[in-house]
Amino acid sequence: EGGSYTRHPSQFAAMALQEAAALLRSGDTVAFPTETVYGLGADARNTAAVEAVFAAKGRPADNPLIVHIARRSQLDELVQQVNGTAEALIQAFWPGPLTLVLPVRPGVLSPRVTGGLDTVAVRMPDHPVALRLIAEAGCPVAAPSANRSGRPSPTLAEHVREDLQGRIGGIVNGGPTGVGLESTVVQAGDDGTVTILRPGGITAEQLAAVCAAVTTDPGLDGEAGPGTPAPRSPGMKYTHYAPLGRLSVVEGPSPAMVTGLIRRELAAAEASGERTAVLAFDEHAADYIGQRVYSLGSLDTLQEAGQRLYGLLRRCDEDGITFILAEACPPRGLGEAIMNRLLKAAGHRVLRADAANE
Ligand code: TXA
Ligand code: MG
Repeated sequence: EGGSYTRHPSQFAAMALQEAAALLRSGDTVAFPTETVYGLGADARNTAAVEAVFAAKGRPADNPLIVHIARRSQLDELVQQVNGTAEALIQAFWPGPLTLVLPVRPGVLSPRVTGGLDTVAVRMPDHPVALRLIAEAGCPVAAPSANRSGRPSPTLAEHVREDLQGRIGGIVNGGPTGVGLESTVVQAGDDGTVTILRPGGITAEQLAAVCAAVTTDPGLDGEAGPGTPAPRSPGMKYTHYAPLGRLSVVEGPSPAMVTGLIRRELAAAEASGERTAVLAFDEHAADYIGQRVYSLGSLDTLQEAGQRLYGLLRRCDEDGITFILAEACPPRGLGEAIMNRLLKAAGHRVLRADAANE
């Protein structure tokens, strides 16, 4: 009974699009696939519906939601103005994994969506199911990633079920998502400059091809210590995606020094009773014979690492891993978003292979 649905946890069945759209219209919550990760949607104008999203996720109330639209004309109903820079980005990247932070038009959206800010984050997802669902619902759809707060974002309907079964109105199963990492969140200045508030599926290089200058919010880097500015995207201050085991990212001047340090650290951890695993690129697989290796794919195609990362972090928990090392990748292209998520998952624990470790 593919289209049927009930709140009963044992029947967390996938639902038909029409049925899901009707649930959204009636003020309920529905999880749906996008090209990045699964989202948990609600009518962005309906405060009770939006509050149900926060409750299901266990999300802090000061972390605002992204509003998803299906047509360009919906944007003008939600925001006060779209400057030339933002317009160029929309032309280049919508539908797609780019979220724009724009001045919100008062009185349209539930104030719970924007968390008291005078801006709203909006995107048009590049996924046929998401676009049809939003169009059919006939409302702007507020949708954070459909995970419990602090868990990796869901890239499969099964991940949504694990986290939210019994807590939401329903789910539309669209199979695995494409990018596997969330959208890039940006703010576009009148002068052609773009600030990345959260790296994601659209890379800094892609943005730079369309606008005058691209910078990354300095508040993004590192543990918020004294002197570090707060991130401009409220969500970036929370520890996300943390696996149950202790995760560290390993980097160094050469692949051989990195894999050597990882081998020594894994052996030492195993000797003290840890259950260990390494998240590694395929180019280095031969260096970890005898170890539990979770593949991030090839360094030549970081898309694979993006698609796999969240699923592998969940897998570490399922497999009872207590000690995890992850190879760093160059923070260029999609590597910027991958390193951002890895470092957050690791609580910014980094091991550096250098002469002192030899
Ligand atoms: O790919 C995605 O963006 C996914 C899919 C479902 O679309 N959604 C997603 O939503 O990642 P969420 O809620 O997990 O992340 C939204 C991010 C948070 O970091 C939040 O703080 C930021 O966007 N954000 C939302 N509104 C904002 C605003 N007005 N100003 C700055 N940052 C904002
Ligand atoms: Mg999220």
